[in-house]
Amino acid sequence: MPPSSQESSVTVEPDLPTTMRAVTRRVYGGPEVVDIEQVPRPDPGPGEVLVKVAAAGLDRATLHLLTGLPYAARAAFGLRRPRQPVLGQQVAGQVVAVGEGVSGYAAGDRVFGTAAGSLAEFAVADVATVATTPESVSDVEASTIGVSGLTALGAVVTQGRVQKGERVLVLGGSGAVGSFAVQLAARHGAEVTAACSGAKTEFVAGLGAHRTVDYRTTSLAQMGDPFDLIIDIGGNRSVGRLRSALRPEGRLVIVGGEGGGPMLGGIQRNFWASIANRFTRRELGWFFSRTTSQGCAQLAEEISTRTIVPSIDRIVGLAEASRALTAMQRGELRGQAVICP
Ligand SMILES: NC(=O)c1ccc[n+]([C@@H]2O[C@H](COP(=O)([O-])OP(=O)(O)OC[C@H]3O[C@@H](n4cnc5c(N)ncnc54)[C@H](OP(=O)(O)O)[C@@H]3O)[C@@H](O)[C@H]2O)c1
Repeated sequence: MPPSSQESSVTVEPDLPTTMRAVTRRVYGGPEVVDIEQVPRPDPGPGEVLVKVAAAGLDRATLHLLTGLPYAARAAFGLRRPRQPVLGQQVAGQVVAVGEGVSGYAAGDRVFGTAAGSLAEFAVADVATVATTPESVSDVEASTIGVSGLTALGAVVTQGRVQKGERVLVLGGSGAVGSFAVQLAARHGAEVTAACSGAKTEFVAGLGAHRTVDYRTTSLAQMGDPFDLIIDIGGNRSVGRLRSALRPEGRLVIVGGEGGGPMLGGIQRNFWASIANRFTRRELGWFFSRTTSQGCAQLAEEISTRTIVPSIDRIVGLAEASRALTAMQRGELRGQAVICP
């Protein structure tokens, strides 16, 4: 459904409650510091819409914002304690109020994308980071696109430039980003090898991986002949080792990974990749996702035709958010958990 063309100043529906339930944390810590609080409902500012949240996909960044790790991230999110107490960033739901200058959306429109503090009954989103939800895509599915889906799309298709017949290695094929990445690479005709933990190999094969390897028992060198493209989403392998697993003109896209230390969390690998890239025919790079309405719409279109299907491990309520975060921390999820208020 195309966005409506109604132009509006701040329009808030009269029956909206002034407070809302939200998943909060007032200090940095593990899932045990997570609380459910009644907090003031936000209002949309200029260029923003207020979304009644139907679903919020849980991704790793939410865990980082919960723990405040790596420490470097605290410069942006609050040095001593989190500035934004409400967790969550991926969102899908219905517009219930529009801010000044918003012309593309009106109350009642279904939207999805990102909104800071999406683990709540309401959240405010910048219209530049949301798109209209296609009729055939559920809110639960749409809520996995804004960060996880778009990161995979950007890494595999935009920056990775995956081609039919190429040998692609997805390191971390079973998670929120990886489950999209495997499907996208396979759908573009690549021969996909996906690394995950042993218990999840069947799940990842079901996403379209031609070969699965257990990263706990298989070294990078044993994962197969050199690859045309490596999408690095899990672990903390050195740029040098990743480079050795590439064909002479292969491409590396570092997306993320845990275990890179409490201060920088592995971001230093991006720096090394940029340096090493100057001295090789291979393309060594990294990708940092930025949510755009256009990207959201592009991936939602694929999902509406079922060429890509978001992997939902579980759907739980706000009260279960802490447990879902624990499950993510322990590596128990296949795809991602979605929180529905
Ligand atoms: N650059 C960006 O814009 C961007 C955006 C989103 C996320 N990220 C980052 O990307 C990473 C993944 O995010 P996510 O939301 O997909 O997290 P996730 O759902 O927890 O997935 C993590 C994945 O990494 C795998 N893994 C763990 N250890 C591994 C190892 N040693 N070797 C290979 N794979 C390993 C896991 O496999 P098992 O579960 O099977 O053990 C799982 O597939 C995080 O570091 C996150 O911060 C970056």
